[in-house]
This record gives sequence, structure tokens and C-alpha cells, in this order.
Amino acid sequence: MPSAALKELVAKLSKSGILLSAGTDSFEIEESGIENIASKLIERHKGDTTQSIVGKEELANVVKELELEKSPMIVEAIHESNFKPVAADIDAQYSIDASPEEASDGTVDSFVTYFRSRLKKITAILNNRSSLPRLAPNLETLGTYTAGRDVTILGMVSNKIATKNGNLLVILEDETSTAKLIFMHSSASPAAELFEQANAIVTDEVIAVTGKISGPFVIVKTIVWPDVPIKAKKQVKDDVAIAFISDMHIGSKLFMQDRFVRFLNWLNGGVEAKKELAGKVKYIVIGGDVVDGIGIYPKQAQDLSVLDIYTQYRMFLNFVEAIPDYIHVFVLPGNHDAVQLAEPQPSISKDMLDNFSKDNVHFVSNPCYLTLHGIEVLAYHGASLDSIIRAVPGCTYAYPERAMTEILRRRHLSPIYGFNAIVPSRNDSLVIDKVPDILNMGHLHRNGLSNYHGVNILNSGTWQDRTDYQVLLGHMPTPCIASIYEASRGDFTTVNFNS
Ligand SMILES: [Fe+2]
Repeated sequence: MPSAALKELVAKLSKSGILLSAGTDSFEIEESGIENIASKLIERHKGDTTQSIVGKEELANVVKELELEKSPMIVEAIHESNFKPVAADIDAQYSIDASPEEASDGTVDSFVTYFRSRLKKITAILNNRSSLPRLAPNLETLGTYTAGRDVTILGMVSNKIATKNGNLLVILEDETSTAKLIFMHSSASPAAELFEQANAIVTDEVIAVTGKISGPFVIVKTIVWPDVPIKAKKQVKDDVAIAFISDMHIGSKLFMQDRFVRFLNWLNGGVEAKKELAGKVKYIVIGGDVVDGIGIYPKQAQDLSVLDIYTQYRMFLNFVEAIPDYIHVFVLPGNHDAVQLAEPQPSISKDMLDNFSKDNVHFVSNPCYLTLHGIEVLAYHGASLDSIIRAVPGCTYAYPERAMTEILRRRHLSPIYGFNAIVPSRNDSLVIDKVPDILNMGHLHRNGLSNYHGVNILNSGTWQDRTDYQVLLGHMPTPCIASIYEASRGDFTTVNFNS
């Protein structure tokens, strides 16, 4: 028999067209909670197009969520009393170079200025990086050159089209004019290799090419990307480590809380495996999507265990409180966090965080340069990775490090314009003007590690189980793996918290 309180809830919900399923009959609820439970369920089912039916599991989730809002969970990390972390006795040395807050009025002029800024900054990188033979002063001067002449030109890619006879036409643009580049389709070396390289050209990136003038076209011989110089490994004396994690998606039903608490226990010396390494952790970089957020995609409410954004952040802060105080934590926002979507994203605001403040916890912009014990880290959530994977042959969700390498070679965190949101401001702060020791991203929910020209490339994975959306797309995440960079050794160790 349903209790009187449950009957009252049924009556309230039915006024909003919501039914409780038969399995909820035996569910016990307090009379004082009816009002809140009803309003949460009504909120969840707002906009349902079919009959709204609430099952036992959903009802239990809502009750749990309300309990959390009243008294948020306190995370008691297991602290091993004889744990003597070396990092506790080493002074922190860090600096934060945040992205400036960019503004735009969204006019055509602001887009023009934005692209000019990109062209100027990457032109400077290309000029510094390579000796470009006989670089034409600009694209307008091409018109004065005679047919058959060798030229080197530079500009932004405005279009890439496959021609009828199988060649590739790429339009290059600068402030003065445009140039039509032709890449001949061929199965013979070296033209075949060049054609393959040309397939990787993406719109809005800045490149240089050498080639020969042929009528209105330039028949390309080589492509020069801005790229990065070979970087020497930094020597760090102190035996400290940087832990990289991202994409916890707290508030999602699929947030793997038990394993995340195991990571926190590990930091506190409460897990035997790789305990010595745990004691070296002096810094943690959290690369965004710390919470699942609300209203990020249609019907997200069905996938949430906590529908209140403030409660999601309160839970996150409870976890952060369990990190030892000698560890400095740097938190970036991602596309699920409660900040503007357009990049650069400012740090998560204090309003969201209930004015939380701790000396060792730093909320930073996305992207952000961090110098941690001399190691330069460029941290970026990675929203642009989707467009790179779509556009560049060989890049897949299974190997995030490949797409990250393509980004590094282009010296721009989001080379293709128009997929992920970007603020078209006067200054393109997504240009990678400083080459880091570690390029760190998240977003793809899959760990990936490699090294390109001495730059460590790391995708820090996730703490969220595989979502229905990922099943649909065939993506296989790698949850609950933390990547730990030991500064003195100059290399990573991955620690798996799945067992
Ligand atoms: Fe994510």
C-alpha cells in the first residue's frame, strides 16, 4: 500500500501530467519532502513530448539529490598515518599565465580583426621557424610574376576543394589578395606524398608553400607548417610530480565516484600501489568538465544524478578538500562547466563555488599556461579536437594524441573556425606562441600519450563511464586513469584506479 505521503506526491504530480510507475508503491518518503520532490520531478520532465512516467530509480535519485543539497557528502579520504610524502617538504614553485578575457562585438569587423591577428602571429612563427626561400611580400605581388617562376607564399587557408580531375585546389588568403594552389594527384613519389600531406590541410590554418606559377595557379612543391622546434628535456632536481586528470562529470549518473575517491585515497597514502609516487605529487592539473552541468544537451536531465549545478560544484569542492594541502590544484573549465562556452573561457566563477577559497586551489582559464617547478604546461580542455578528427586523415577518437599533435604543428589550439565557439576578439589568444614542455588536453575521454619534437602530449581521459552517446558513436573511453609526470625523470607513469 502506498503511504499517505506518496499518495500526496502522486496527486501533486498528476496535476502536471506526470505519473508514478507501479514499482514506486513501496517507496518511503517523508511528508516534509513532498514539495521539493514534486518540484524537482516537474522540472526534470518539463518539455517531455510523451507521457511522463517516473520509475523507482528516478524517484530514488531525486531523493538522494535533495539529501545531498541539504548536507553535501563529506569525502573522508583514507589518510595513512605513516605516509611521509616527499612533496610535503618541498616548496611549491608555480606561475599561472592565464588567457586574457577576450571580448567581441560580433560584427564583421571583429571577425576580420580576429583573423588578421591569427595571420600576423602565425606568420611571425613561420618566419622565425624556417628560412622560406624568396618569400613573396604578399599575395597581391603574385600577379606581377611570370609563368614558370618559383615562388614561396604564405597565407590563411580559406577553402580546400577536390577538382574534377582528382587534384586538390586550396585557396590561400592574406590581407591583400588570394592565391590558388594546386596539388597534383599522383601515385608516383614524391608527388604522392605531397598530395597526402595536402589532404591534411584544414581551413583557417596559416601555412607557407613553395611552388611554380602556372597561369592563375601555383603548382605546389612543398608545404611548410609553422610546427615546433625540437625541445630539450627540462632538468628538474626536486623529486616532484604533476598529476593530470580531467572530465570527471560530477553530477552525471555515470561519474565513477568510488574510483575517484580511490584516487583521492591514493594521494593521501591510503592505497599501497605506487605509494611512493603518490607522495611526489605536488601539483594536479584538472583539465575541465569537472561537473556534468545542466542543459548542455537535450534531455540531459535523464542522465544526471544531481540536477542542481551548485550542488554539483559543492560535491566537486568536497572532493578537492580531500586533496592534501601541500598539493597545488589548477582547475580549468570545459564545455560542460558553468562558464561561457566561447574560448578562451574564463575561470569558473566564485559565485558557482560558493565563494570557496583555499590557497592551494587555483581556478584558471581555458586555455592556460602553467609553469610548475620549471615545467611549462599548456593546458586546454580540447573542444577543437572533434573538428580536427573530422578533418585530418589518420586522426581518430581512439588516439587523441594524434589530433593533439596536428594542433601543435599548426601552432593553434583551434585552427578550424566555426565548430567549437571562439571569441572573435582583437587578439587570437589560441595561437600557441610559447612551445610548452607538456601539452595537456581532455574532452575526448580517452587517455593518450606521446612525444612530438620533445613536447609531451597527453590526453588525461575521464572519470565518467561510457555514455549512450559514446556507444552510439562507437567511442570507447578509458576512465579512471591518472597520468603522473615525474619532473626529475621527465616522464609519465599512468596509474589505473579501476581495480
Ligand atoms: Fe568531458
